[in-house]
Amino acid sequence: MEGERADEIAVNRELWALVNERYTGPAAEALWSRPEMVWGLYDVPERQLGVLGDVDGLDVLELACGTAYCSAWLTRSGARVVAADLSAEQLRTARDLQRRTGPAFPLVQADAEHVPLASGSFDLVVSEHGAAAWCDPERWLAEAARVLRPGGRLVFLTNSLLSALCVPDDEGVATNSLQRGQRAAYHVRWPGGGAEFHPSHGDWIRLLRRFGFSVEALHELYAPPDAPDHPFYEIVTTAWASQWPAEELWVAWRTTAAVTRNG
Ligand SMILES: C[S@@+](CC[C@H](N)C(=O)[O-])C[C@H]1O[C@@H](n2cnc3c(N)ncnc32)[C@H](O)[C@@H]1O
Repeated sequence: MEGERADEIAVNRELWALVNERYTGPAAEALWSRPEMVWGLYDVPERQLGVLGDVDGLDVLELACGTAYCSAWLTRSGARVVAADLSAEQLRTARDLQRRTGPAFPLVQADAEHVPLASGSFDLVVSEHGAAAWCDPERWLAEAARVLRPGGRLVFLTNSLLSALCVPDDEGVATNSLQRGQRAAYHVRWPGGGAEFHPSHGDWIRLLRRFGFSVEALHELYAPPDAPDHPFYEIVTTAWASQWPAEELWVAWRTTAAVTRNG
């Protein structure tokens, strides 16, 4: 498994070197300069959900930060942020945006399954369409628990389980019928390349509890019926996402001592 997983991570790294193209230019700059934090494909305002709350003065780690626009907002809101990602290309875009629009914060190239940062050094770990889909939950949750201080919070956004069940193998748009079994969605290797994880809700709760978290909330994000389709994320149409949740936003607290991955 170790070797197989290393191969998958290498494939994902190559994929993100290519996909990074989409994240550069004026669209990326607009995301970086957004005055308020919003969640998901349909921009649900943080002030409506309140999952981050007041981050002023908190030590925050963003895992699989991509171009790090969440970290930019968190930094502007007074947090001390470190942003980590596997992809040198995505981090280069983030560094460019730091220079062009600011603010600056540390960027670390790292695998979220092996985070090269000290234990107990963060109050909040955030991942927005990052570690939850791209990393083995047994590994990245162990790392999130390790780097969080007791009482720290974990907030992550990922594609909904239902969307992962309804997307066909060619990775087109979610259909109105189930395309794979729920067990098969836990670890999907798409024929076009990348490998993703879409645990069931029961799996998430079991794993979060195992790593010392207590679950505060699972927000299911729908599209407003009159919203346009997203300009480049093709995983769902608005028609689909106004009937079923396209994304899931989990909030958990690190309440007890974290166990190790094999513990
Ligand atoms: C959808 S993007 C990140 C979202 C980010 N909020 C953004 O839009 O810029 C997913 C990110 O996960 C990163 N990633 C994939 N596998 C990873 C891993 N094992 N460790 C850390 N980052 C990883 C990719 O490099 C990519 O930047």
